[in-house]
Amino acid sequence: MTVNVCPLPVADGATGLEVLKGLVRERSLLTALACMHRHVGNAFQITLPAFRPAVFVGPAANRQILVTERHRLLWRNETDPVVKLLREGVLVIDGTYHDEVRALMDPPLRRRHVLGHIPTFWRLTERLSRGWQDGETYDMLVEMRRLALFLLFEPLFGVDLTADLPSLWQPILKLLKYISPGLWLIWPAAPRPGYGQARQVMDAYLYDLIRRRRRELAQGRHPDEANLLDRLILAETMDDDRIRDQLLTMLIAGHDTSTALLAWTFYLLGTHPEAKARVQAEADAVLGDGDEPPTAEVLGRLHFTDQVIKETLRLYPPIHVGNRRAAEDLVLQGYRVPAGTRVMYSIYLTHRDPAEWPAADAFRPERFDAAARKAGAAEESAESGLRYVPFGGGPRNCIGAAFAQVEARVVLAYLFRHFDFELLNAEHIRPYMGATLEPRPGVLVRVRRRRSAHALASRPL
Ligand code: HEM
Repeated sequence: MTVNVCPLPVADGATGLEVLKGLVRERSLLTALACMHRHVGNAFQITLPAFRPAVFVGPAANRQILVTERHRLLWRNETDPVVKLLREGVLVIDGTYHDEVRALMDPPLRRRHVLGHIPTFWRLTERLSRGWQDGETYDMLVEMRRLALFLLFEPLFGVDLTADLPSLWQPILKLLKYISPGLWLIWPAAPRPGYGQARQVMDAYLYDLIRRRRRELAQGRHPDEANLLDRLILAETMDDDRIRDQLLTMLIAGHDTSTALLAWTFYLLGTHPEAKARVQAEADAVLGDGDEPPTAEVLGRLHFTDQVIKETLRLYPPIHVGNRRAAEDLVLQGYRVPAGTRVMYSIYLTHRDPAEWPAADAFRPERFDAAARKAGAAEESAESGLRYVPFGGGPRNCIGAAFAQVEARVVLAYLFRHFDFELLNAEHIRPYMGATLEPRPGVLVRVRRRRSAHALASRPL
């Protein structure tokens, strides 16, 4: 059977000029992608020198890329910095090797174990926020990064990062910069100063951590089944190099995303006072007077907070685009995609598509209200049909999705229960395409401890 397919549409002269202007003016690929989507449609090709990805938007394309055609699309792109950094990390390998590594890493990240970390998430959030001075200004992009690192290292690697964070902070930021979109996209050989040293520092830390834990387990320390590092060490197939690759992958994929999610939540609640008041009232009512960590059942009652998290992930998906490489010639959405083409599915544009979302650019947490969705058929599929894909989709969706969502609930519930946050720089904040979609230049808030929090606890929602 012959299939009538055509090449992907590209920008015409006027659109190309608008894209270029956007790129120069806002220095943002996001603006360029949005412009192409508006003028060209749900499938298009970018035609920059050496950077010619096929870009797709919408649930139908997501289904093909994430489910039906996924075997013909590779995650690994040898020339990408992320592959050079993570080497054989689960994020950048393919085929049965990927499936084996993923199956090994999956159990500690299942919901059952993640719920067991609630007291750790709570305690570490309390510890970090105890250092905040009443009335002082803090950048939530920085604070949430520190917190996300603590919250990743202790439950999954069994390490309190407090003493080592100061010396690892700059190397971590350097590595994030290294894998962020940049000049290398069009000039792969562009010099990358400072990266080699950052990687050395990080490697020295991770290899030392692995060796120490290996020794402790050999000396009879009881392995913890919720601890990912223990599990990797006990697996016969994993040597220190392979374990390093997985730890660095989790470190990068698991903290930068949560940092962005939490920082954007502070921005959105700071610009939507009614929603902020509701989050606070819910935390007061559900958590009550005590300062004990909530049980999983109590955490499950933070319905509005959950809607806020989901809506934040819709508007500002930390991973705003998924990257693949066509392993062979294929047809996506009726368009010819030759072997070797970089293929992208845009999570950001799918989440902002007016054809999929009424008032797509508006912050409306209620659209994720389960009860309201049941009542209205139009909203029923808010999370289904691959039009909502903050954690990707199909078998290679985010392995840390449960971890991230439980973590975000605990952090937000704790912080909004105990503090008031006044956003100070709303008008300057823009989405920036780093390794994740970040609020730049940061989210400055004045922090005040809520003295009346306990008195409010009994107030009805
Ligand atoms: C708000 C937080 C998070 C968001 C929005 C997020 C988003 C995503 C997305 C969209 C993908 C799929 C990308 C694609 O299809 O190209 C993904 C994959 C992945 N995520 Fe997350 N993630 C988050 C948190 C985490 C955490 C906490 C961890 C680890 C503890 C993690 C580890 C991973 C890994 C290892 C993969 C690759 C899985 C595979 O290929 O089998 N993520 N994530």
